[in-house]
Amino acid sequence: MRALFLLLFILPLSLFSAKAKYLDNHSCNECHEKIYEEYQSSSHSSSYFTNELHRKIADTVSTEEYVCATCHMPMADNLKDLISGKARPKKSNKTHSDGVSCFFCHTIAYVKKSHEFNINIKARQAERYKPTIYGRLNNPDDSDKHSSTNNPIYGKMVCMGCHSHKKNDNNVTIFRAMDDKQDSGGCIKCHMPEVEGGAEKMDKRARGRHASHKFLGIHNKEMREKSVDINISSERDKLIIALTNKMDHPLIIQAARVKYLDIKVLRDDKIIWKNFDKNPSEDVQGYFALSFKNHGKKILIPATATERGVINNLGARETKTVTYSVEGLKEGDKVEVSLYVQLAKDDCLKVIDLKESTLNKPILMKKYESVLHK
Ligand code: HEC
Ligand code: HEC
Ligand code: HEC
Ligand code: HEC
Ligand code: HEC
Repeated sequence: MRALFLLLFILPLSLFSAKAKYLDNHSCNECHEKIYEEYQSSSHSSSYFTNELHRKIADTVSTEEYVCATCHMPMADNLKDLISGKARPKKSNKTHSDGVSCFFCHTIAYVKKSHEFNINIKARQAERYKPTIYGRLNNPDDSDKHSSTNNPIYGKMVCMGCHSHKKNDNNVTIFRAMDDKQDSGGCIKCHMPEVEGGAEKMDKRARGRHASHKFLGIHNKEMREKSVDINISSERDKLIIALTNKMDHPLIIQAARVKYLDIKVLRDDKIIWKNFDKNPSEDVQGYFALSFKNHGKKILIPATATERGVINNLGARETKTVTYSVEGLKEGDKVEVSLYVQLAKDDCLKVIDLKESTLNKPILMKKYESVLHK
């Protein structure tokens, strides 16, 4: 195997093409049933055609150029044309509808760091050979559909091409999930834990386990509960809440998201204090979101932002203490602290007409209760 790998690099360049035969997601199902099923339930399998929030925002940014393709439709056989507006996404084209596809991830040769966003460098494939798939298995088998190569950089950089950071044309940071020194090892540990079952259905090598491809995140209850630790204490007329982000990335990555605190103090089962009345944004400390401006005016979609607006976030592994004055707080008072997420801010529904209007419905991430004692 190693010999073939070397040979592929020594062969004259004319034999290579980045456009070698594409193996679509469904073709992997023949041998990697479990992984295929997991992957299908993940948001990487979603695309312009199936993710309404993404499609509506993309179309609001431009109905001609689909610049999002770099990360959301990376396998497109006409990527440059999509970005420049010469072509539009086509549902019947598998390289479009496959989203962040199996083949794409497993043929990233390496990731180049860059200012606006990082760049995934694809492995060159020899046209006359079956494609080479990269992974991390020790001594992987080949199959009649692909060769397998353990690529040493693979586990370290594979998430960085899309998830690290993104700036818009005006040099405004839209998101930053990873710092420069971070690698993908942590991402894989938390988002691709080892689960039962071999890596392919015959499991000839009797591995017995594989890395989960569900990529669980904000849509999963257990993952939501793992995000933040909440600690409640009090001091005279002060309610003190310490939040610790347990993740290797900020609490808020996405511009569309809001995560917020809903705090209630109860005495004899009656609410005597709340951190907000109608809208969670009334409590600026407990409302975690990113906002953007265009020449001083607040805008919702960051693609055209010229500056960032108010940012309230909780950095990777950061602990933040928020303090509220609650007059007459006393022993025996019960405090309830809930952390909620809205997948799309209320404002999103005003800017784009979302059919799935449940996207702004608050989802509970975590709830803590505590009875105060001196
Ligand atoms: C540099 C890579 C990159 C580019 C370019 C990019 N995105 Fe994303 N996008 C991501 C990543 C990574 C995520 C997942 C992060 C997360 O959910 O926090 C994401 C998630 C999203 C989500 C949230 C999806 C959901 O279901 O909640 C929306 C909406 C979105 N992107 C819209 C866009 C639009 C519109 C464009 C083009 C104008 C775009 N993105 C361009 C990387 C990118
Ligand atoms: C005809 C059966 C077959 C098909 C189809 C197939 N594979 Fe494989 N694949 C295998 C076998 C066998 C192995 C070796 C497993 C082992 O060594 O335990 C493997 C290994 C792998 C590995 C691990 C490589 C490494 O070096 O760590 C990856 C990644 C992989 N396949 C991805 C894919 C993807 C993506 C597709 C679809 C585009 C696909 N496979 C289609 C049979 C297949
Ligand atoms: C080719 C670009 C690309 C690469 C490489 C990539 N992702 Fe993603 N990822 C995305 C996009 C785009 C989304 C959002 C898709 C959507 O919701 O439409 C996303 C979403 C996610 C989510 C959100 C899941 C949820 O439901 O909350 C997680 C977790 C994630 N990716 C983890 C990873 C990990 C771990 C790696 C590395 C092993 C990785 N990604 C590599 C583009 C990528
Ligand atoms: C210590 C565990 C841990 C590590 C390490 C980690 N994550 Fe997460 N991540 C989580 C948890 C838990 C959630 C779900 C809760 C949340 O989103 O607040 C999450 C959520 C996400 C989301 C969805 C956020 C949203 O609001 O849509 C993305 C995207 C993501 N992670 C990508 C990554 C990437 C990329 C890396 C590597 C830099 C990484 N994660 C490292 C635990 C982790
Ligand atoms: C977002 C990138 C990404 C996508 C999409 C993706 N994989 Fe993987 N895959 C990985 C990473 C990273 C690993 C290595 C995890 C590890 O070693 O802990 C991996 C490992 C594997 C392995 C080896 C098993 C193991 O336990 O290491 C196989 C086989 C595989 N993937 C097949 C697939 C198939 C089939 C699909 C689509 C149905 C797919 N992958 C989609 C990133 C991806």
